[in-house]
Amino acid sequence: MAGGITQAEYWNGEVGARWARNQAVLDAVFAPLTEALFDRAALRSGESVLDIGCGSGATSLEAARRVGPEGAVTGADISAPLLAVARSRAEAETGAAPIRFVKADVGSADLGAYGQALSRFGVMFFPDSARAFANIRRMLHPGGRLTFLCWRALPENLWVTVPREAVVPLLPEIPPPPQPDTPGPFRFAAADPLVALLRGAGFGTVACDAVDRDVVLGRGATDAEAAQAAAHVALNLGPTAHLVREAEPDLRSRAEAAVTAALTPHAEGGTVRLRAACWLVQVG
Ligand SMILES: C[S@@+](CC[C@H](N)C(=O)[O-])C[C@H]1O[C@@H](n2cnc3c(N)ncnc32)[C@H](O)[C@@H]1O
Repeated sequence: MAGGITQAEYWNGEVGARWARNQAVLDAVFAPLTEALFDRAALRSGESVLDIGCGSGATSLEAARRVGPEGAVTGADISAPLLAVARSRAEAETGAAPIRFVKADVGSADLGAYGQALSRFGVMFFPDSARAFANIRRMLHPGGRLTFLCWRALPENLWVTVPREAVVPLLPEIPPPPQPDTPGPFRFAAADPLVALLRGAGFGTVACDAVDRDVVLGRGATDAEAAQAAAHVALNLGPTAHLVREAEPDLRSRAEAAVTAALTPHAEGGTVRLRAACWLVQVG
């Protein structure tokens, strides 16, 4: 649940629509992390790939380019607005593997059999992670691999903490810390329980490596413009946006000013860059 609503409601409602509108921005922010994911997945020509929680499809499209026309890609997600963006992007692709986008809960659906499964931040939202990872493992061919990115702890992710710390003092209540083992971006911040979870789901080999990348949160002709652009991203996508998603216009505009001010010292040469800290996990 996210604030008393189910994940399906969350990703099909206003949040899903906002992610869909900001697809290009989001893909640009995540680009260095996406590269790390694909370097590790090392997809080969002709492979079949399942993209878990594929969202607006960037990683499904990249997988299709990498496995080529002899391969096949399924992008699965519970969000109708994000899948609509993914489908329209796939129509413009040529020379890549065929991509099938399906609306499905990857935690329980049987979506076929794959040589590789991957996910960019799409595996932290299952109500029952043990069941979901066991289900994903069942969909892998013998020798198949699952490669995914998830976030390390909040304090290590400056791209979240810098805007977040500017917003929290403005809120009527301090947001409660997330309940352990509930869906959310930082659910797998601790590596040991994640490794145990994956072993419990039946994966024999588990590699969990820390990956740090500077992500570009905003660009502009001046540092002031870059900070403004970065504040817009932070307040529309991700954990800081979640804090103000139901805020009145007055609080929202105060948050925008506070986040812009907090991001300004991080702008240099018209770019706001901040550290993102992930686990890059590969299991088989
Ligand atoms: C943080 S977003 C990441 C989206 C995409 N992978 C990207 O990097 O742009 C998480 C995604 O997981 C999807 N999701 C959440 N629970 C899911 C489930 N049980 N089955 C499939 N997708 C799910 C959401 O709809 C959302 O698109």
